Amino acid sequence: MDIGTGDGRFVYQSARRNPKKFYIGIDPSRKPLEKISEKIYRKPAKGGAANVLFIQAAVEDLPAELDGVADELHLHFPWGSLLRAMATAQVEILRCLRKVCCVGALLEVVMGLDPVRDRSELERLEIPELSLKHVDEVLRRAYLAAGFEITERGILPVSEWPEFNTSWAKRLQQSGNRPITYLIGRAV
Ligand SMILES: C[S@@+](CC[C@H](N)C(=O)[O-])C[C@H]1O[C@@H](n2cnc3c(N)ncnc32)[C@H](O)[C@@H]1O
Repeated sequence: MDIGTGDGRFVYQSARRNPKKFYIGIDPSRKPLEKISEKIYRKPAKGGAANVLFIQAAVEDLPAELDGVADELHLHFPWGSLLRAMATAQVEILRCLRKVCCVGALLEVVMGLDPVRDRSELERLEIPELSLKHVDEVLRRAYLAAGFEITERGILPVSEWPEFNTSWAKRLQQSGNRPITYLIGRAV
């Protein structure tokens, strides 16, 4: 499951590569989802993928039918209220995410922020610097309270980004000095 999926590229590409797995992409923004939602219903030879579902919803309001279904939960380059929830560990939102996971589900959160270019948005959302100290001293405990154990975390400079295969990853990688802070965890 990919929350804040944007145009759904990560979900779609993953589904095409792994036809035996089922993928769900979720985003409250309708427009970016339109094209890909139409494409998945084509014949497989024409780009269709029967193992994908896109849902228009916000993290705060996920359908109850999703409870316990995810064995992998991805959040790539969240923005707005979703970024605030992940970067400041808003426990009630983290609990919404935990609810859709089965026990042991993998959590992957990737945040790419530029302290200079993104300053006004970071101030508006009251997001502190995403340092390892912040992860270890603030996020770790709050994530655990919501049911996620952080098992790995790190900060990578733009030159060492792995391939994320999302539209925002490509956009951000071309826009200068934007380190990424990543968290890997599991639902407990
Ligand atoms: C920067 S885009 C990243 C899109 C995609 N993950 C990617 O890497 O290309 C951030 C996305 O988060 C979504 N988002 C913002 N607030 C959200 C919320 N409360 N719940 C779910 N998604 C949200 C936005 O609609 C947007 O599509």
